[in-house]
Amino acid sequence: MPRDLTVIVLAAGGGTRMKSKTMKVLHPVGGRSMVGHVLHAVLATDPNRIVAVVGHQREQVGPHIQQLVPDAVLAVQEEQLGTGHAVRVAMDVVGASGQTTGTVVVATGDTPLLTGDTLREFVHEHLASQAAVSILSGVVDNPFGLGRVVRNDEGDVLAIVEEKDASDVTREIHEINSGILAFDAAFLTDALPRIGNDNAKGEFYLTDAIGLARGDGLTVSAHPTDDVVQTEGVNDRAQLARAGAELNRRIVERWMRAGVSVMDPATTWIDADVVLAEDVTILPGTQLLGATVVGEDAVVGPDTTLKDTEVGAGARVVRTHGELAVIGAGATVGPWSYLRPGTRLGARGKIGAFVETKNAVIGEGAKVPHLSYVGDAEIGEGANIGAGTIFANYDGVAKHRTTVGRHAKTGSNNTFVAPVAIGDGAGTGAGTVVRRDVPPGALAVSAGPQRDLEGWTLARRPGTDQASAAAEALAESPAAVDHADDPTDD
Ligand code: UD1
Ligand code: CA
Repeated sequence: MPRDLTVIVLAAGGGTRMKSKTMKVLHPVGGRSMVGHVLHAVLATDPNRIVAVVGHQREQVGPHIQQLVPDAVLAVQEEQLGTGHAVRVAMDVVGASGQTTGTVVVATGDTPLLTGDTLREFVHEHLASQAAVSILSGVVDNPFGLGRVVRNDEGDVLAIVEEKDASDVTREIHEINSGILAFDAAFLTDALPRIGNDNAKGEFYLTDAIGLARGDGLTVSAHPTDDVVQTEGVNDRAQLARAGAELNRRIVERWMRAGVSVMDPATTWIDADVVLAEDVTILPGTQLLGATVVGEDAVVGPDTTLKDTEVGAGARVVRTHGELAVIGAGATVGPWSYLRPGTRLGARGKIGAFVETKNAVIGEGAKVPHLSYVGDAEIGEGANIGAGTIFANYDGVAKHRTTVGRHAKTGSNNTFVAPVAIGDGAGTGAGTVVRRDVPPGALAVSAGPQRDLEGWTLARRPGTDQASAAAEALAESPAAVDHADDPTDD
């Protein structure tokens, strides 16, 4: 890599064809913004500086870029007068920072498939060719709308001609300008003021620099990429979806080659920043999003969405929706579980069917197997929460915490009215409403003793199917009605 490399990322255009209040380069694909993907590729060239040209919605685009690359320099292009003008605005910043030699690469913010390898290789080729300008070109079936690379009979590059300015003969050329160009900085500085806007669009075309270099007798080279898809810009939402699908296809393929089993690549979506270990298995209908990490031998899916979630080695996650959660090694989750932010399930723990958790730390080997809501809770290791338990964390004003001790075993259909603590090794009976702390080792019961009001159905529901069923059963084995409670006294 050259020791003085500047990369200019053009991101000032309006992107009107997106028909969106969100600026084009901020639209997400594969878990990053489009410009985020480009910056990722740019960083791989190890540049000395990155200059981003911003204009439209720069109050959103600028901070976004600087959040991703804190030392990126922003150059504001107030009016979008063309790519040549945009680069001139950027070079004013570069010149002010003292660079007059070295290499300047220009890329655009709307090519989410661009990789660092491609960009790095292009910079190498540019330097090796000792050209004043190099074009990353590509041969495409349908060149419509793109700048054509015009060569002479010897194959030397003469110019880039834009679609609107092209003759019928030039329009037949299938080698196009990807929009990614590399310049000798001194030549670029000299050429920019010489670019005019006397063309079909009335814009300052950066691509005019190629013709100027030829006129100066300098070398121009074009390097056709064999993966032109990487350089395709996204202009509308149909192209956005196509780019997203292609990016995903590439990511899924990469993980399969790295030792991940993906049963159905077509219904598996993996964001660019997800990390998977060897021998992970992903079942159909699964989305792994954001900064999700999955450990060795874990099985995720089918029909699971995990965002920014950590899955431990050997865990099993079935039909689950999780966000900002941590699932311990060997734990089991699902089916139909909802893990909200702050859920931390310990190793070999269980969150079972129809269980929702939030801000819940569930210890090693602890289980919440069925039909429960666990909010703002800490459950000790080895504890078991009975089916249908509600951690009542919200009193209508504030949220409160519940703790359940180690190896506690709570009964079915309990309500824990927070703030409340259930001690280590304690238990609760079925249907208990826990409003006060339960001491370690105690069994808490709050439901009253069962009373049987015998004869109640016959007295209160005469003539119903319920009454005839009761009467038939009683006729077969008559109950001792003499000590029954009076069914009318409650
Ligand atoms: C440009 C190239 C064309 C190439 C194509 C590849 C020129 C004149 N033409 O055409 O040869 O085949 O890209 O996609 O360069 N931008 C600014 N400020 C401006 C104008 C543009 O920041 O004043 C940004 C846009 O936001 C966009 C990029 O530069 O990201 C390209 O500009 P655009 O107008 O779309 O150029 P194309 O017509 O696509
Ligand atoms: Ca474009």
